[in-house]
Amino acid sequence: MKITRTQVGIVGAGPAGLMLGHLLHMAGIDSVIVEDRARDYVIERVRAGVLEQGTVDLMIDSGVGDRLQREGLSHDGFSINVYGKLRRIDLAALTGRRITVYGQNEVVKDLIGARMATGRALLFEVADVAVHGLKSSQPGIRFNHNGELQEIRCDFIAGCDGFHGICRPSIPEDSIRIYERVYPFAWLGVLASAAPSSPELVYSRHARGFALFSMRSNAVTRLYLQCAPDEDLTQWPDNRIWDELLARLGNDDGWKPNVGPITQKGVTGMRSFVVEPMQYGRMFLAGDAAHIVPPTGAKGLNLAMADVWRLSRALAEHYQSGSDALLDRYSDDCLQRVWRAQQFSWWMTSLLHRSDTGNPFDSRRQRAELEYVTNSLAAMTSLAENYVGFPIAHEFAGELEKTVLS
Ligand code: APR
Ligand code: PHB
Repeated sequence: MKITRTQVGIVGAGPAGLMLGHLLHMAGIDSVIVEDRARDYVIERVRAGVLEQGTVDLMIDSGVGDRLQREGLSHDGFSINVYGKLRRIDLAALTGRRITVYGQNEVVKDLIGARMATGRALLFEVADVAVHGLKSSQPGIRFNHNGELQEIRCDFIAGCDGFHGICRPSIPEDSIRIYERVYPFAWLGVLASAAPSSPELVYSRHARGFALFSMRSNAVTRLYLQCAPDEDLTQWPDNRIWDELLARLGNDDGWKPNVGPITQKGVTGMRSFVVEPMQYGRMFLAGDAAHIVPPTGAKGLNLAMADVWRLSRALAEHYQSGSDALLDRYSDDCLQRVWRAQQFSWWMTSLLHRSDTGNPFDSRRQRAELEYVTNSLAAMTSLAENYVGFPIAHEFAGELEKTVLS
């Protein structure tokens, strides 16, 4: 068996693992990243696409924001289509902040490029990954790479291997607590070769269910439809998808998405999930390995970025001053932001989806809330401040960071 050593062993090369490796490199800390998928698969996997300003600032400040600044689409607001009435939420006017639309796979591509330039290790297509010795002073990662069994001995392990990874399940069940809620609906998502017909996102609540109009570039539209968790994609030929999208996005202003060839489609389940604490011995969990939000609030990628920023600061303090104070509070500090985002994502999901509870009271109450949220300045401001997100990169005093709303 080949044995090597590093300071931080990182499992998973999604946005969390790659950004952590990058921030650690900036702090002069060595790491090895191991990823079970192939490089092209990781780069081409289409996921979320909304970056909070805090995430954008983190990428720019850490030197990986050049292409993002050139190609990212900056949005000052979005609309909610309330049963055919388009209402705009002016994020910039309400909060002074905005969001940027830039695909998660583009973030991943930029971070892989930055990693390659450092010459530090990033291994794709590793198999049989396992972590051990998590409570010892030298935990390890074992795996097969190119037919050879390898072990990396580390000071710390970062579990950045997503919801289906092996790090969280390696923690004894009695050492963690899991909070979970699974929703009775899912999203059917498509990518279409069509110029976006609106410069901003449109979230739509229609009698037939939720729909979302988003985009990836000036030539590619991204759209979603509420569907069943076990929806059979073979029942959804392209023309049925377009008919349903056009119906659910329909509105009194006559706005509609441009129709074009569908190049990708898939169904994404909806779940809220948190593990506490986000640490076991010398292993720290970050991103989807520790928490999942339903995609309605566009928080998943941004939470992952906030976690690894915090973890990189805590590890830097350990190596620079020998103090573990920040590492000790890593989980508590992350969980404050995580639960705020959980609450917001659950709320936005409940606000916008059709849920057949069988009691018509629920849909009338939901409609009253939609009217309130899209008409009251106070309610819109609350929505906007959560949607644009709370700042990441400044000192955390143990409370939720103060927002820009002064
Ligand atoms: N060994 C090594 N790598 C693994 C393993 C394993 N056993 N299991 C999973 N991985 C890899 C996955 O292939 C993936 O590349 O870990 C990576 C985890 O990446 P993500 O799932 O993208 O999670 P994260 O980096 O936390 O980013 C969160 O992803 O799901 C979206 O909405 C979510 O945008 C958010 C973001
Ligand atoms: C996306 O563009 O993929 C997207 C946008 C907003 C969301 C979720 C996904 O809330």
